[in-house]
Amino acid sequence: MTGLRHKTVLITGGSGGLGRALAGAFAQQGCRVAIVARGPEPLQSAAAEIAQNGAEILALPCDICRRDHVRNVHEQITAQWGGVQIVINGAGIARAANFAEMADDLRDDTLKTNLTGAYNCCKVFLPAMLRAGWGRIINIASTTAKASYRNVTAYTASKHGLLGLTRSLALVTARHGVTVNSICPGYVDDERTHRNAEMMAEKTGKSVGEILKLFAASSPQNRLIAPEEVASLALLMASEKLGGMTGQAVSVDGGAVMV
Ligand SMILES: NC(=O)c1ccc[n+]([C@@H]2O[C@H](COP(=O)([O-])OP(=O)(O)OC[C@H]3O[C@@H](n4cnc5c(N)ncnc54)[C@H](OP(=O)(O)O)[C@@H]3O)[C@@H](O)[C@H]2O)c1
Repeated sequence: MTGLRHKTVLITGGSGGLGRALAGAFAQQGCRVAIVARGPEPLQSAAAEIAQNGAEILALPCDICRRDHVRNVHEQITAQWGGVQIVINGAGIARAANFAEMADDLRDDTLKTNLTGAYNCCKVFLPAMLRAGWGRIINIASTTAKASYRNVTAYTASKHGLLGLTRSLALVTARHGVTVNSICPGYVDDERTHRNAEMMAEKTGKSVGEILKLFAASSPQNRLIAPEEVASLALLMASEKLGGMTGQAVSVDGGAVMV
């Protein structure tokens, strides 16, 4: 992918299923990759996996809900590599709950992680991009950013909010060489989706395989999305060749949501 070699990319949620695929894809393009998440062990193991192919990688424990943590990450990457050109806001939590029974804590945690966390990273990393006259912010949203689903009220609100942040920042940055876009995946074939299927199987008495088939059937293509498909779109959005695309929310969902 043109122009990505030697760029530095920060990927939040880099120890998760999608985060690891994103980190691997950018590392393969010759980027320096910094990954952050709260849990140090999964983070180290993700970094070790990606470094096997000779990539330059930094694994920095960080809670993106804490602005001081994010600032610290900014300082460490800047000291090591001089700056960050691409930020991928991938960290997120998704807990299902019936609205009437949902605890306020679930709403608070979800909005804080999925929306305020991404906001914190934009707030800390964007100024240097604006000064440099080049940058890319890619927010990993969800089909729930465009459509509504039952029992994921807080998640849906947080991802709708993330689209609002994307569109607003796209205007703020439009004349400064920076683009801000979102990716909206459907059900991805990763650990999280399998964990969710296990939980639903326990609740409903169906098998995990049956639940995964139901997830797949929510897409007109009748399949789950490979994490690498999301990573391919992120590479395209980050490319030097795609400076005119900003403020967009692109679905990778087999045609499930066509807006
Ligand atoms: N999987 C899907 O089907 C799917 C579909 C649509 C959209 N998405 C979105 O894609 C993104 C990645 O999902 P995934 O499937 O890779 O989920 P995942 O496997 O559960 O990974 C989530 C990642 O976010 C990190 N994280 C959570 N809270 C954090 C915090 N406060 N600070 C820093 N890191 C934090 C987690 O690490 P720690 O817990 O150690 O912090 C982990 O690295 C999410 O935004 C999700 O909403 C996923």
